[in-house]
Amino acid sequence: MLASQKAWPLLLLLLLAGCSAGGNSTGISAGRVTYEANCAKCHGDTTTGEGGLPDTPVHGPEGHTWHHADGQLMEIILGTLNIPGRTMPSFEGILTEAEVIGILDYMKTGWYQDQVELQREVSANWEDLYPEK
Ligand code: HEC
Repeated sequence: MLASQKAWPLLLLLLLAGCSAGGNSTGISAGRVTYEANCAKCHGDTTTGEGGLPDTPVHGPEGHTWHHADGQLMEIILGTLNIPGRTMPSFEGILTEAEVIGILDYMKTGWYQDQVELQREVSANWEDLYPEK
């Protein structure tokens, strides 16, 4: 009885810690909801692309998305990066940066561990890799 009463503050602390850390399950599950509502109708299942439109990139391990840095993906999704011939709608003013980060955290749950690690490195250095940015 006493032990379970004592566990509550600890549980609360763990919950709070989970909310403030990056890439946590709160962000991932929020990202899943945002993805389902805004992206899945074209891109399908984030890992397999199932249920998506033909000729629309798949975000899973077989796709290309993981080659891009987080900063670039943010610009692609918000539409602030000018891609000639782009057909994807821009999400600037529709999604916040925090919501896009949630989507990216969700996408990453489908990638292989080595892809996650490589992409993390690319994300940390992308401004050096693309000095024109
Ligand atoms: C109306 C269909 C449509 C919707 C909705 C859509 N996309 Fe796209 N997306 C595309 C198409 C088509 C492309 C390929 C490039 C182009 O034609 O613009 C693309 C390209 C991309 C790319 C770059 C390619 C890659 O994977 O490296 C990313 C990242 C992306 N979309 C993420 C998203 C996210 C996240 C959402 C939801 C917030 C979303 N898209 C919503 C159709 C869509």
